[in-house]
Amino acid sequence: MFDYSKHVTDSVFRLTGYCWAEVKDFANFVPTRKESTMAGISKVGRLNNDSPERYAASFTSFLDATEMSAECYYLFFESVVPDSTLCESGGEVRVLGIGSGSGEADSIITKKLLQRHSSVYNRVVEPSEGLIEKYKTLAREDTSLSAVKFDWRHQTTEEYFLSSREENIKFHHIHAINVLYYVEDPVATLRNMWEQLADGGYMLVTMESEKGDWGKLGLKLWEDFGQGDRLDTSLRMAGDIKIWLDAMGATYVSFENKVEVNATECFQENSEEGMLLLDFITHTPHTSDIPEIRAMALDFIRRHSSLVDDKIIFLSIEETIVAFKK
Ligand SMILES: C[S@@+](CC[C@H](N)C(=O)[O-])C[C@H]1O[C@@H](n2cnc3c(N)ncnc32)[C@H](O)[C@@H]1O
Repeated sequence: MFDYSKHVTDSVFRLTGYCWAEVKDFANFVPTRKESTMAGISKVGRLNNDSPERYAASFTSFLDATEMSAECYYLFFESVVPDSTLCESGGEVRVLGIGSGSGEADSIITKKLLQRHSSVYNRVVEPSEGLIEKYKTLAREDTSLSAVKFDWRHQTTEEYFLSSREENIKFHHIHAINVLYYVEDPVATLRNMWEQLADGGYMLVTMESEKGDWGKLGLKLWEDFGQGDRLDTSLRMAGDIKIWLDAMGATYVSFENKVEVNATECFQENSEEGMLLLDFITHTPHTSDIPEIRAMALDFIRRHSSLVDDKIIFLSIEETIVAFKK
C-alpha cells in the first residue's frame, strides 16, 4: 500500500502553519488555537471510531439526503449476484453476511439465491442490537424468506472470526455491503472472509469508489489533513479492496452504482442536519468545528456538484466487487 506518512506530515504542518522547530519541545508545549486544529485534524476519517453515536445520527441524515428511493437502491444488489450455481444442485447454499445491519440489502441477495436453490443457510454477523433485531423482524414477517435458516450472531466481525476459528465451516457466498470502513483491520477481515469462502464461491464487497466525487473528496481530505495510516480510518475505498484481491491473484468483476446526495443543507449556517451530513460525507466528527477542514470540504463539494432545482447534488459512486474463489 502507498505510504502516506511523510507526505501527510508535510501537508499537515504546511496547512496548520507549524514547523518542526515549534513542536519538537513537547514538554513546554502551550495549547493554542493552532493546537485545537491539530486535535481536529487527528480525527479525520474517524467519525465511526471516535463518535459512534454521532456516526449513527449522521447516517440518518445521509439516508434522508439520498435522492434515490430505498427500493431502487437495494434492487441494485439483486442485479450483481452471480447467476451461476454455487453448489451442487439441490444442495443447501451457505451464506455469510458481515455487518448485515437491518437486512434490507442482504435479504435481496438471499431472495435472488432462493430463485435457484430451495434452501439457504444464512449466518448473520451484526454487532448492533437494534439493527439485528430489525433484521429478525424482517425475516419473520417476509414469508418469501421462510426457506432460509437464519443463524444470528450478535457480534463484531473481529469477535465472530475469533469464535469460529476452530469450526472449519465454508460458505458459498459471503458479503459485506458498506461495512469494511468500520472493521478494525480491513486486510485481516478480507483474509478471514476469503478463508471461510468455499472453492467455487463468491465474495461480494461494496465500498465507496474513488471514481466518484465523494471518494475523491475522501482522498483529498486525507492528502491535506490525514495523519498516520489511512487504512486505520474509515477513509477506505473500493480500490483498497482491489489491491488486496490483486495481491491474492483473485478473479473479480466490479459494478458501479451512482447515488446522488443532496448536500444543500451542508451550506446552511448553523443547520444541525447539515453539520451531521457534512460529518458523514467527511467521515470526520464535528467537521464544522474545524475551520480548515470545513472550508476545504465545502469548497470541494461546491466545485464538484451540480445544481438541480436549487439543490446542490453531490455524486457518490459505490462499487460492488464480486470476487470468485477458484
Ligand atoms: C452502513 S451500515 C451497512 C449495513 C448493511 N450491510 C446494508 O448495506 O444495509 C454498516 C454496518 O456495519 C456494522 N458494523 C460496524 N462495525 C462492525 C464490525 N466491527 N463488525 C461487523 N459489523 C460492523 C454496523 O453495525 C452496520 O450495520
